[in-house]
Amino acid sequence: MARPKPTADWLRQRYRRFFEARGHHWLPSAPLVPEGDSSTLFISAGMHPLVPYLLGEPHPLGKRLADCQKCLRTEDIEGVGNEQKHTFFEMLGNWSLGDYFKKESIAWSWEFLTQELQLEPERLYATIFAGNEDAPYDQEAEEAWLAVGLPKERIFALGKEENWWEAGETGPGGPDSEIWYDTGRPACGPDCRPSCKCGKWVEIWNNVFMQYNRLADGSYQPLKQKNVDTGMGLERTVAVLQGHYDNYRIDLLWPLVEEVMALSGREYGENDEVTRQIRVVVDHLRAATFVLAEKITPSNVQHGYVLRRLIRRAVRFGRLLGIKSLFGEKVIQKTIELYREIYPELTQERAFILDELVKEEERFNQVLDRGLRLLEKELSQLARGATVPGQLIFDLYQSYGFPPEMTREEVARLRPGSKIDWVGFEKLMKVHQEKSRQAAKGLFRGGLAEQTPETIRLHTATHLLHQALRQVLGDQVHQVGSAITPEKLRFDFTHPQKLTPEELRQVEE
Ligand code: SER
Repeated sequence: MARPKPTADWLRQRYRRFFEARGHHWLPSAPLVPEGDSSTLFISAGMHPLVPYLLGEPHPLGKRLADCQKCLRTEDIEGVGNEQKHTFFEMLGNWSLGDYFKKESIAWSWEFLTQELQLEPERLYATIFAGNEDAPYDQEAEEAWLAVGLPKERIFALGKEENWWEAGETGPGGPDSEIWYDTGRPACGPDCRPSCKCGKWVEIWNNVFMQYNRLADGSYQPLKQKNVDTGMGLERTVAVLQGHYDNYRIDLLWPLVEEVMALSGREYGENDEVTRQIRVVVDHLRAATFVLAEKITPSNVQHGYVLRRLIRRAVRFGRLLGIKSLFGEKVIQKTIELYREIYPELTQERAFILDELVKEEERFNQVLDRGLRLLEKELSQLARGATVPGQLIFDLYQSYGFPPEMTREEVARLRPGSKIDWVGFEKLMKVHQEKSRQAAKGLFRGGLAEQTPETIRLHTATHLLHQALRQVLGDQVHQVGSAITPEKLRFDFTHPQKLTPEELRQVEE
């Protein structure tokens, strides 16, 4: 029988069926914003919502669980743009809560990859933990790999950097075993081996053997129960199954790429820069759609700030591609359509998602336009052949949020061949960063620890202001921060719109 085309949906279903047949209970994806956990802004791994159960609390649905979890990782947002890196992605996972351990976990992974997905066994490699002062060489994992028939020369023992997984500063973790697929691309050098980032190897699955709980003092305490926590990247595994190793060419992302190509008139693959820019726009708008679906609005703090960065970076990269109009809406509509069945919450929140996206895009476009006008004016006053001053690039960045790489593009367009004083710009940036650091320290010193009659009065004023804001704007207003010095008070709060002068007047009153 012909094998169905390996789409993302096909993989999700195969995975579910395989683990259900082995006694696992299938869980729906938890929301991206963790419920009742303030230690992290977004869920970034399938195991996050399961932490209490990995630490020993009994799970109501049993000891074997599996799911496909929505994840968001933004700590390396600038790294997005290659074939595999995403902010938003889906992670397939199976868990043993004190039930099976390394032998079964590895044997099932092997069976799933080679039998169900029919990946060529010769292209699969494993890495295991080499041991250190915290835990020994992972003999058990090595034996489990040898038992399924993986030859010793395709098993690599690596250090903690590569083969140890823990979610945070504290909590459950342990040695892991990663499964790597050889794309067949040439090795980058004699030391090129699984876990090398040159593009030859794709990590498709990570099996973590959670035997320890990391305590606040950095020590590891053996857990009462030995758990398995696995994570398989959905997009990259589909890319492997389809044989092109480019996540953006899979069925979940390619329609978005096509949308951006149509909007910009540029071709994916035209050159590395354009390809990268298209990927960033696609990745960020897809992620923004999922964040917006959880009723987060763009702001300058916390979740809202992550969302704002995603949208604004997408707009910036859209501009670099030459898109001048508002365009996010089209990409977001396509995203909602692509995930209609699996994540109906996108369709349910469609109006909110589109409305907030367009508002933020308009806001940022205005800022960019103002910056652009200033740049045009300054350039027109500059002597022919003169170097563009670093101060101008800095002012645009500082006052208009105008990103330096965009200024570079604009200068090249408006004044082809002009030089920019990047050294001067960098110097100003350093001074600015140092000042911000000092200011942050100063604010800290000037906090409530320094109680003077002025700061006590201003502290009381924050409460009055909070109440006034809620009366005028509504109960959705929440305080998210404040800073008090003897001279002034700053109050940060959540509200989806800019306040009108009339609202400000009422609040003041
Ligand atoms: N928690 C591990 C990871 O995120 C495996 O699921 O890679």
